[in-house]
Amino acid sequence: MKPLTHDLAALRGLDVEHHLPAQQDYRLMRDSGGSRIIVRAEDCEIFDAEGKELLDGMAGLWCVNVGYGREELARVAYDQMRELPYYNTFFRTASEPTVLLSAKLADLLGGKLTHVFFNNSGSEAIDTAIRLVRHFWQIKGQPDRNVIIARNNAYHGSTIGGVSLGGMAAMKKQGGPWVPGFEHVLQPYTFNEGFGEDPAKFCDRAVAAIEERILSVGPDKVAAFIGEPVQGAGGVIIPPEGYWPRVAQLCRKYGILLICDEVICGFGRLGSWFGFQHYGVQPDLVTMAKGLSSGYLPISAVGVSSEIVTALRDAGGMFVHGYTYSGHPVATAVALRNIAILEREHLVTRTANDTGPWLARGLKELASHPRVGEARSLGLLGAVEIVARRGTNERFGGAEGKAGPIVRDLCIQQGLMVRAIRDTIVMCPPLTISHEKIDRMLKIIRQALDAAEPQLLALQAQVPK
Ligand SMILES: Cc1ncc(COP(=O)(O)O)c(C=O)c1O
Repeated sequence: MKPLTHDLAALRGLDVEHHLPAQQDYRLMRDSGGSRIIVRAEDCEIFDAEGKELLDGMAGLWCVNVGYGREELARVAYDQMRELPYYNTFFRTASEPTVLLSAKLADLLGGKLTHVFFNNSGSEAIDTAIRLVRHFWQIKGQPDRNVIIARNNAYHGSTIGGVSLGGMAAMKKQGGPWVPGFEHVLQPYTFNEGFGEDPAKFCDRAVAAIEERILSVGPDKVAAFIGEPVQGAGGVIIPPEGYWPRVAQLCRKYGILLICDEVICGFGRLGSWFGFQHYGVQPDLVTMAKGLSSGYLPISAVGVSSEIVTALRDAGGMFVHGYTYSGHPVATAVALRNIAILEREHLVTRTANDTGPWLARGLKELASHPRVGEARSLGLLGAVEIVARRGTNERFGGAEGKAGPIVRDLCIQQGLMVRAIRDTIVMCPPLTISHEKIDRMLKIIRQALDAAEPQLLALQAQVPK
């Protein structure tokens, strides 16, 4: 392992003095003496500067699909940097890997999604999609069709556009006012919003909420509906059976564009290349990032239908949008090779037929734990709901979000990096994960739930009966 150039305590001091990490409580960070410094990673394991090894149950941040330590991705980046480290796509210019990646993505997306627009992050892809759909309706002579319907608790990124479009209440409390023209409807979160309800009835209700909103906004004012096939950052929310085909049908009925945000679900996560393929629907736009390069370099893309491209071409004139690093040749070269690895190692079908079912089987066993209200997964995306009483969705301490961090911290102590979203422990390991490591991940979660018991009981005691 390459030694740190600084003494660890000094480095953590500098971290507190100068660094504002993403999505952090800066007081907590200061009081806890800075961040855990991650120094190395290999396959599904990350190592910190104190020598602690952690099984990475989150694939970084839902992104390292091919696992860490891929020498060939480093070599591709090195070779591309030597040959052409940068060029833009503003001047009717492009590079070979960028063009080849567009063609490869069009092939994987299939059907009418023939073109691709590149950006650097999921949030930027979302901003591109927002501008593109609104621009599309403007050139179609329907400028009032500019409302986009999303779901409550949806995560579509951290830019002003992403937060405005997203449905995360906590994010909306900071930094508004927000971009107008976004509506939010019931999320298909059966465990929270439809608990105890017949899933088919809950599905009816979730679909009806969209139709009601289309009608109240006015069908001729709705530009698009956007959703993640499975909501990731919202808590790995797997919609009830039949939800997506019915949503797609609604979009067709009212002539509304369908945007699938595949930033987490894309590139094999659900056992298909894209989540929309798993659910058998046809979007008009697809946003993707993360697994596109397995996080080795920042890159994102928006897949666009031929109908939209034709409209843009027929109208002529510039689409006045783009980023300095759109189609960055090093990022596209790495993404191309990342896709080649996913294909060569059959990681998508392996997720569908082998590791995904293995995780589902293990979660089924974990679901019998007295503090687990539900354990669910699709492909290699999983979630465990922590509840105060089995058979209910009652949360500890009478409010969501108190138990999750306790269990998460115990998981980390015991060598597993996972995330708590309120009281939901979520899992998203690299697609290379073995059966043995899946079992280890679930065993640590079980042990953490057991070890959390005294703290959970203390939480329970706080609530007046
Ligand atoms: C569905 C979805 N959309 C958009 C984003 C934003 O991506 P980024 O963090 O790369 O901007 C995320 C990030 O987690 C996401 O999960």
